[in-house]
Amino acid sequence: MEKVEQKIPEIVLNSGHKMPVVGLGCAAHPLPPSEQLVTAFIDAMEIGYRHFDTAACYGTEEALGIAVAKALEIGLIKSRDELFIASKLWCTDADHDLVLPALKQTLGKLGLEYLDLYLIHWPVRLKHGAQMFSLAEDEILPFDMHGTWKAMEECSQLGLTKSIGLSNFTCEKISKLLQIATIPPAINQVEMNVGWQQRKLVPFAKEKGIGVSAWSPLGSYGNFWGTNAIVENPIIKDIAASKGKTVPQVALRCIYQQGASVIVKSFNKERMKQNLQIFDWELTKEEMDQILQIPQLRGFAGEVFVHPAGPYKSIEELWDGDI
Ligand SMILES: NC(=O)c1ccc[n+]([C@@H]2O[C@H](COP(=O)([O-])OP(=O)(O)OC[C@H]3O[C@@H](n4cnc5c(N)ncnc54)[C@H](OP(=O)(O)O)[C@@H]3O)[C@@H](O)[C@H]2O)c1
Repeated sequence: MEKVEQKIPEIVLNSGHKMPVVGLGCAAHPLPPSEQLVTAFIDAMEIGYRHFDTAACYGTEEALGIAVAKALEIGLIKSRDELFIASKLWCTDADHDLVLPALKQTLGKLGLEYLDLYLIHWPVRLKHGAQMFSLAEDEILPFDMHGTWKAMEECSQLGLTKSIGLSNFTCEKISKLLQIATIPPAINQVEMNVGWQQRKLVPFAKEKGIGVSAWSPLGSYGNFWGTNAIVENPIIKDIAASKGKTVPQVALRCIYQQGASVIVKSFNKERMKQNLQIFDWELTKEEMDQILQIPQLRGFAGEVFVHPAGPYKSIEELWDGDI
């Protein structure tokens, strides 16, 4: 298989560890059978991906683990250290005493001794057994930021993850967390694309030394919660046409130039390859200025976590007004 020749740039996280700036998203709906997932992950490694983003709730940790073992067996990689594997703590385990067992379960599924990055998936705690898209009002519990983060720090101190971080946290929530943190979060992974450019978070995170990673960089195109608005945006289409690039390449390159890393999902070899070919050209200042004109709107507002009787009574509260 043809490999993308250019090496994916890496950034150094505040933990001192390096992270490739493009990671393969490992969430898919509907979930393909395990053999297809394993093939996709092996294809990705052959093409040049070294950063994989999974989560306890995606159902892809086992297949990724099988792919890693196979890649080692066939010599595609020489050592596990060549990979950057991230996973996430699901909301039903967002409690001090549940974090370590949850991470151990994730490691067991992946067949790994350590993760490179472990993230709190949402600033939300859910009752055991709760289903994200059909939550009853009493299943959304108060989120114990202090206890959950302390347990994340303990996981890091035990060497079970090289870096720890957050996902879907606002500037306000990060500020609160920094007041109690001994180890600062290395990453905050959030929805970010040309239609939701995270204009408040990106400079804030930069000032605090926290990396921003973009999920839904193509608007989760094709997913039931996703939108075509990114891949059909006329400004991005015009820029792509004038540069001889694809619309997804322009959308991904823009995120990179705005200072964030990119988590993009494709299980198609050609598209996986295309998504890595964003490092030997750039968007001009004029093009970036044009992209700044795109109206901004969150794609996924997190309504599922909002309830009049729950800890977040409105979308504004969940996002601390950043909507
Ligand atoms: N932290 C969080 O709360 C959170 C939330 C959502 C997602 N994530 C992470 O972020 C990753 C990426 O987000 P996402 O999967 O929602 O959306 P995305 O990466 O924005 O979009 C994925 C969709 O775009 C298609 N696609 C990819 N490259 C393409 C290309 N070059 N041309 C045309 N279509 C292309 C894919 O289809 P094909 O596979 O057919 O190419 C897939 O349907 C997830 O997989 C997950 O790891 C994190």
